Amino acid sequence: MLFQFTESQDLSISKTYLKLIISQFYIRKVIKVMFPYHNSVMSKAISLSRSVPCAGDCALRDVWRRNIHRRVICIILSPNKREQFLPMSVVLISTVDKGGNRNIAPYANVIPILRPLDSVAIASWLRRDTLDNIRDTKEFVINVPSADLVNEVMICSRNYPTGVDEFAVANLSAKASQKVTAPSIERCIARMECTLDREVTEEGKYSIIIGKVVHLEVDDRYLAENEDMDFERARPLSMMLGETGMYYTVPAGTGDYRRYAEMFIGDN
Ligand SMILES: Cc1cc2nc3c(=O)[nH]c(=O)nc-3n(C[C@H](O)[C@H](O)[C@H](O)COP(=O)(O)O)c2cc1C
Repeated sequence: MLFQFTESQDLSISKTYLKLIISQFYIRKVIKVMFPYHNSVMSKAISLSRSVPCAGDCALRDVWRRNIHRRVICIILSPNKREQFLPMSVVLISTVDKGGNRNIAPYANVIPILRPLDSVAIASWLRRDTLDNIRDTKEFVINVPSADLVNEVMICSRNYPTGVDEFAVANLSAKASQKVTAPSIERCIARMECTLDREVTEEGKYSIIIGKVVHLEVDDRYLAENEDMDFERARPLSMMLGETGMYYTVPAGTGDYRRYAEMFIGDN
């Protein structure tokens, strides 16, 4: 099955879809010549396809293509659906500004840079107090909230004038960090204190911040007997994006536990 994304935000019909419309035209002509008495079925199918709303109604078009052109199975996702297929972890990033005002913002574009977790990257739009604070102070804390903190996460996601203390607004208690000045958040499962290592900016759009993890601590109440994280008890917050909002989720085990060693089978 082919999943195809349109290239530009403005394009609602991709080249493939156009090709399909043109090929419909020729298929119809051929069928008319070959089966003059049986083409009403095809006409019905083609008019059905035209009545299907354009770009975005992938499911409907997919069903139609599966039935009519059995060999063409293609789902064209409109731009606002592209981001819906990837589960994302939600974290709270705490920072301070030059004047010492405390700030918190939820971020879901967070990527650990391999193991062990020495470096971590976050993607930020440019108009974020969080980004300004990281640039000014060269440090930040990535706090991992549990699902119980959804309301606080949403409160911190709102726009406040620069300098407003978002710990106070969201009624979250600060915990002194070990290695950085920015405070950590008390009720979170884990906290990663980071210093700014590098910034990669796409001018006018976004910035990727790479942080060096200088201190990492986890609430030991959420550790299992073998000291692995008991994620079903901790319920670290994650999400899937939807058409008009976010579906908050938590990780659930599949019952599979596979040793790392399995990945190296076959290595010489
Ligand atoms: C669950 C969630 C995840 C978010 N992830 C990001 C993200 O990865 N990058 C980003 O720039 N904004 C993200 N945002 C939006 C910011 O959190 C929001 O704009 C916030 O007000 C920024 O605060 P600040 O200006 O104090 O930094 C997210 C919001 C929510 C609710």
